[in-house]
Amino acid sequence: MLELYQYELSDIWEQELDSNGEYGYDLTRHMKGERFFAHVVLVDEHFAGFALVAPALVTRKDGFWMEQFFILKKYRHADLGTALARHVFQSHPGPWEVGQMPRNLSAQAFWRKVIASLTDGRFTEVQVTEGWWKGVVQRFSYEPAA
Ligand SMILES: CC(C)(COP(=O)(O)OP(=O)(O)OC[C@H]1O[C@@H](n2cnc3c(N)ncnc32)[C@H](O)[C@@H]1OP(=O)(O)O)[C@@H](O)C(=O)NCCC(=O)NCCS
Repeated sequence: MLELYQYELSDIWEQELDSNGEYGYDLTRHMKGERFFAHVVLVDEHFAGFALVAPALVTRKDGFWMEQFFILKKYRHADLGTALARHVFQSHPGPWEVGQMPRNLSAQAFWRKVIASLTDGRFTEVQVTEGWWKGVVQRFSYEPAA
């Protein structure tokens, strides 16, 4: 699924295929745990999407960063992305930052709607223009309902 995700964003995310014809995303850190996590969505036992979570690193030093997030085309516009986001935030409560690349306008629309809904509008948004990662970042604290 990572290969499909990377290809889908390849017009706005500069990457090259390796000698095996793959993007070859490095999952070593997620395999080890230690605040790196992978969540996979199944629909009727078929892979339908995933989320990768890392320690916060762009606008804050505490909490979590939504490193990658993907729903297969077949399963889109059916609230599966919303359900996956809710599951991930509930699994890792606390401070969050979620970023989208400047040209990923559909992802920006998705995350603004989902985060506004899950936080009752209690989030801020910043434009990151300096550093190794640039784009739009929503910042909030996710606390599960008592
Ligand atoms: C963005 C993505 C995860 C959305 O997944 P999804 O399961 O289709 O999302 P949902 O059905 O839960 O959508 C919830 C709301 O987000 C908004 N939304 C979702 N996709 C959208 C799009 N392409 N354009 C504009 N708004 C969108 C809509 O308001 C939608 O509510 P509605 O269905 O009532 O209109 C999916 O399109 C995807 O994987 N895209 C490619 C990878 C990517 O960009 N990932 C995010 C990286 S930051």
